[in-house]
Amino acid sequence: MEPSTHPGSTASAEQPAPYGTGPGKDAAAAIRKPAKVRIHHLQQAKDEGTKFAMLTAYEQYSAEIFDEAGIEVLLVGDSASNNVFGNETSLPVTVDELLPLCRAVARSAKRALIVADLPFGSYEVSAEQAVATGVRFLKEGLAHAVKIEGTAYYAETVKAMVQAGIPVMAHIGFTPQSEHSLGGYRVQGRGDDAQRLIDDALALADAGAFSILMEMVPADTAAAVDAAVGVPTVGIGAGAATTGQVLVWSDMAGLRGGKMAKFVKQYADLRGTLLAAAAEYGEDVRTGQFPGPEHSF
Ligand code: KIV
Repeated sequence: MEPSTHPGSTASAEQPAPYGTGPGKDAAAAIRKPAKVRIHHLQQAKDEGTKFAMLTAYEQYSAEIFDEAGIEVLLVGDSASNNVFGNETSLPVTVDELLPLCRAVARSAKRALIVADLPFGSYEVSAEQAVATGVRFLKEGLAHAVKIEGTAYYAETVKAMVQAGIPVMAHIGFTPQSEHSLGGYRVQGRGDDAQRLIDDALALADAGAFSILMEMVPADTAAAVDAAVGVPTVGIGAGAATTGQVLVWSDMAGLRGGKMAKFVKQYADLRGTLLAAAAEYGEDVRTGQFPGPEHSF
């Protein structure tokens, strides 16, 4: 039977696997790492001062590859809205659109913790609505946890979800679903505004959020939030002090193209690679180079 991971449960049959430590310091990294990343491993990283990596994933192959690469957390982000569905922002994507993506990612990753974004409009109305949507993501989407955007205002919502057995990551700072009320993509928590983010983070962590994600927050503010809360923090454009870092995979791997935000580090040029491959294939077909005799029966 799968051991319980319900927050507060004492009935777990699984011993917390040491995170980043193991049978011997020369053991292969793969042996030292837990077979399945659980929330308590992220907490262990915070407690031990080690780091974890998180990437978005929206379908089978990216999930398989990132999982094999050892990425600890895969986020089925509502950024699928503008990275899969062709929308301009994250706002239009729906629960029914995200659920199949989440299921595909969860089925394809063997080790990573799968976190699903609750899309705009699917949790704001009431704690009951949030619990109902969260249940769908764990039950139908096979996610292990969900992420919601918001301030201390959502503390009661987080509490209700956690009570219902839904682990919650809370996303503060710049929250893309509030793009219009925040006046566009703007850094949050500068100067005197830092205390607001610390208060939000404390309220959400107290309510039971297992992690606080900060987006587009000055590094010193993010460090202050990280120091104030006991749970692991994750940053995107929030400096280096957070326990984890997250990037949208199509930015990280250069699939999207165009201008990247300052906080993105591009590790590959997948767009260029695919463009060249598709152009070469098209040319081969047009010139009769493909298929060759070796591809024919
Ligand atoms: O949906 C998403 O990709 C996100 C990240 C920006 C953290 O929420």
